[in-house]
Amino acid sequence: MRLKSLDIGGITLKNNLLFAPLAGFSDFAMRAICRSYGAALCFTEMVSAKGLIYGSNATEDLLYSPEEETVKAAQIFGNDPEIMRRAIELPAMAKFDIIDINFGCPMPKIYNNGEGSALLENPALAEKIVSECKKSGKIITAKMRIGITDGKFVTEDFAKALEQGGAAMITVHGRTRDKIYAGEPNYIEIAKAKRAVSVPVIANGGIFEISDAEKTFGETGADGIMLARGALEKPYLFSEILGLPFDGDKKNLIKRHIALLKTKYDDKTVAITFRKQLCYYLKGERGGAKKRERILRCTSTSEMLSIIDQD
Ligand SMILES: Cc1cc2nc3c(=O)[nH]c(=O)nc-3n(C[C@H](O)[C@H](O)[C@H](O)COP(=O)(O)O)c2cc1C
Repeated sequence: MRLKSLDIGGITLKNNLLFAPLAGFSDFAMRAICRSYGAALCFTEMVSAKGLIYGSNATEDLLYSPEEETVKAAQIFGNDPEIMRRAIELPAMAKFDIIDINFGCPMPKIYNNGEGSALLENPALAEKIVSECKKSGKIITAKMRIGITDGKFVTEDFAKALEQGGAAMITVHGRTRDKIYAGEPNYIEIAKAKRAVSVPVIANGGIFEISDAEKTFGETGADGIMLARGALEKPYLFSEILGLPFDGDKKNLIKRHIALLKTKYDDKTVAITFRKQLCYYLKGERGGAKKRERILRCTSTSEMLSIIDQD
């Protein structure tokens, strides 16, 4: 495995395993869990630049990052370079060292608004977004897909535009927008991005086991890898890949995760917030499907824990 430290715009990370921005999942607690298993850098979920500017309260929780998160990285989305730069310059964003820009979200609400993956068809605007955001003085990184549809890949030209704009790192999710999250990533396209630019390229997509991590490194030549759904199921996959000892007991993990959420929220909010993540933790567990059904109705963490304790 090509494990190594990684330099991003002057910040040296202890390794090259990253945790992805994941809407509804990559909150402060999940990021702390991933860090505890060795992830060197974790991103907040995507936050709307316009939402930030127009003071949407919903974004405040998404940007919560306790002091112990020493390198702080947020992801924003939008398509107006000036609004995006102004969003990054807001006091709410002052604590973040790294701002990642979303060029991959496939969801119709975002795509039809000309944001996220829609920008893959407009490398000139993407370059402008990155260069304008850089004026904020923050380290700007970018996360892209390989195109809108198979056979019409934009990977190399788009990665070059991002580098030209000043991106300090480029994460390439090796699927097209049409594929959403399905199918094997296209390693050849990720490898093309790696060869096209000189800033670090991070490969993302389909890493659920150590063997997937090895394959991704081997086939792409990328400088690092980013885990997403694989880490939601098994955050200790980071330790497995790094060859570190770890406690893989799901019950311990669940208790630890609930305790982290309780540092910020009351019990009912924790239960509701944690439901979806708990369903990921129970994937592949014996009796998991039945437990998941019941968990989705829980309104207290004691209810959740009693379901977990039933074998
Ligand atoms: C529920 C969910 C939410 C996601 N939210 C974001 C997001 O906020 N920003 C982003 O760049 N990508 C987001 N993604 C994409 C992931 O970061 C990642 O690129 C994708 O899941 C592919 O990796 P995987 O196959 O290892 O899961 C999301 C994916 C999922 C499944």
